[in-house]
Amino acid sequence: MRHACALVASGRAKRGSTVGIAVTGERNGQATNLPWAYLHLPPFPQVAVRVLQLANNENVQLHQLCDLIASDPAFASEVLTVANSLLYAPRYPSTSILQAVAVLGANTLQGMCVTVGVRAYLGKTMSYPAMRSLWRHNLASAIIAQRLAEVGFLDKDMAYTSGILHDIGRMALAVIQPKGYAALLETHHGAADSMLDAERGLFGWDHCETGRQLIGNWKLPDSLEAVVADHHLPRRTDGAWDLGELVKVSCAMAGAVGYGAFPGCQSPEFAALLDVLPAREHRLFQADPETLRQQIAESIHAIESA
Ligand SMILES: [Fe+2]
Ligand SMILES: [Fe+2]
Repeated sequence: MRHACALVASGRAKRGSTVGIAVTGERNGQATNLPWAYLHLPPFPQVAVRVLQLANNENVQLHQLCDLIASDPAFASEVLTVANSLLYAPRYPSTSILQAVAVLGANTLQGMCVTVGVRAYLGKTMSYPAMRSLWRHNLASAIIAQRLAEVGFLDKDMAYTSGILHDIGRMALAVIQPKGYAALLETHHGAADSMLDAERGLFGWDHCETGRQLIGNWKLPDSLEAVVADHHLPRRTDGAWDLGELVKVSCAMAGAVGYGAFPGCQSPEFAALLDVLPAREHRLFQADPETLRQQIAESIHAIESA
């Protein structure tokens, strides 16, 4: 059974299937009642949410993960298709989730489940070019986040998952009001964070707040909630490097190599973004933006054609 996430929204609900669940937000330790009415969002694949929840449980057994994915045959078959795609190019294609876990490892498979979940969530809205760009922005951010983690000391699978989910709030806005949000994405010009005000003008809230609500509803860790909620805040000035900072840079780098969240997104120069990396990452990360762009394009093509 798939689950419907109830997310509170302003009185713009168009789908008619409204429910009365009050949601209380909390930021900086202060509880706030968000002035939103109630709206049912189309369901995010429950199996993807459960996989994410399991990913944070150290006691989880591999067979539990496999059983969970296999419990949704359509989802499992999509995950297998991506696992066997050119992106991973296994010598022997997997015919079961258990095999895929053996070949790719549980953590990689979890990232793949989230990718399949996000694509399913966007569903028909992908017919809008702006939504396809948004999907590719998230994929590009995830690929960059994973690579940055690989050359440093952060967890590469957690980095990938954080990258693919960092703009999940945008996905939700796209699902709530595809036409209006697509028009906003297509016409807005400015820095990435300038979109937040425009979103508040259209919906009454922005994609960071929306993402925070979703991650909270799914009962995922606070650390992931913070990444999603804070990725447009200014970078820290104390030189600290954690998943939150890595995702901020990954999102900006995706824009710098041609995968901005919206066509008019003004991103910092790639070289300037390299300069904010810690010494090790700066030394080992791909320094040529054109090569990086091509590598990302190949990975995206492999996922999209799977
Ligand atoms: Fe964002
Ligand atoms: Fe982003």
